[in-house]
Amino acid sequence: MDKNEELINLAHRRYATKKYDPNKHISDKDWNTIMEVARLSPSSMGFEPWQFLLIENKDLKQKMYNDAWGAQNSFNGADKFVVILAKKNMTATSPHVKHMSEDVQGHTFDPNSPFTKKVMDFQQNDFDLNTERALFDWTSKQTYIPLANMMTAAAALDIDSCPIEGFNRDNIEKTLADAGAMDAKEWGVSVMASFGYRDQDITPKKRQPMEAVYRVIK
Ligand SMILES: Cc1cc2nc3c(=O)[nH]c(=O)nc-3n(C[C@H](O)[C@H](O)[C@H](O)COP(=O)(O)O)c2cc1C
Repeated sequence: MDKNEELINLAHRRYATKKYDPNKHISDKDWNTIMEVARLSPSSMGFEPWQFLLIENKDLKQKMYNDAWGAQNSFNGADKFVVILAKKNMTATSPHVKHMSEDVQGHTFDPNSPFTKKVMDFQQNDFDLNTERALFDWTSKQTYIPLANMMTAAAALDIDSCPIEGFNRDNIEKTLADAGAMDAKEWGVSVMASFGYRDQDITPKKRQPMEAVYRVIK
């Protein structure tokens, strides 16, 4: 099989798992690979506006159960349950951007630098990121990149997964904050995902034809 076929098979092999086998566990080696792929994901200007919470605490899962209605299949059997947080209020001069610039990217941070001004202009004018909600949605969007990479990496390792948006954000954030799992002033819940081994057959993909979603503009 050539690489193109392999990639298409992988895309068919990944599916949103509705029934997991609770007796099967992901090896540490495989899980570390999935997390490393998440960590290496690209982000706008390299600011990495995310954190990944692996929820192992059974009581906490129980507390989340009713509010995370789209995750109930996952709670009942997935080996790993991840909540992806997105950074709040990540403006050009915010402490997170300063930290990323200085401690990760190795630049000196200057609020008056041409780079900072460019980020400000991008946020305020190009992308209209002028409310807390718009800023949160922008960082949340970026978390879907590691989410997708994790699911594809899992499929390549023959591990099943499910992306999850079926939850009440306010209630889940309160539950996680009360448990000390997140600082709700700094972070919001963007999306969740589960990983494990299926206890059902993979359903064939139902998708629009290529010509409905892809156009070449000449
Ligand atoms: C952003 C997003 C949120 C989703 N939320 C849920 C969810 O809460 N619960 C669930 O069982 N499936 C969820 N899904 C799975 C979709 O229903 C599924 O991916 C889609 O129907 C296509 O099927 P496939 O992934 O099996 O190819 C979600 C998918 C995405 C991309």
